[in-house]
Amino acid sequence: MGISEEIRNKFKGLTSEERSRPATLLKRVQAEYGYVPEDALEVIAGLTGLPLSQIKGVATFYASFSLRPRGTHVIQICQGTACHVKGAKRLKERLESLLNTETGQTTEDGIITLEEVRCIGCCNRAPVVVVDGRTKGRINIRELEPLIRDLRD
Ligand code: FES
Repeated sequence: MGISEEIRNKFKGLTSEERSRPATLLKRVQAEYGYVPEDALEVIAGLTGLPLSQIKGVATFYASFSLRPRGTHVIQICQGTACHVKGAKRLKERLESLLNTETGQTTEDGIITLEEVRCIGCCNRAPVVVVDGRTKGRINIRELEPLIRDLRD
């Protein structure tokens, strides 16, 4: 069975209303595969009757969707204005150097994916990182190395 057919089968139990919502379908695929494969975007466009570009737009807008396979752990660094003012750029550069990878990529060992996100609504705790879905506020540059070490343990 090809991946498109497999994905179509996963949507079979959904109501027709659920099937018309791209975000609901994308959420399903993300939960199942850990990312949204290109084929899934096409299947969703076909099911919803919306243009592929619009489905891609939804998938790239929300930080919870990834168009590439992710590592076992995901570190997201907020680059919104409040976090930027509090040194988020330096934190991002430090993470890239510690992980030896660029933002948007996964480490060579496949363990950690580093991503950049826009404001996640915790500006009063800037600068903010999200590690495997858990938000850590007022993150200090010195905390990054132990944080990565913990994820690799
Ligand atoms: S700018 Fe980072 S949480 Fe708002």
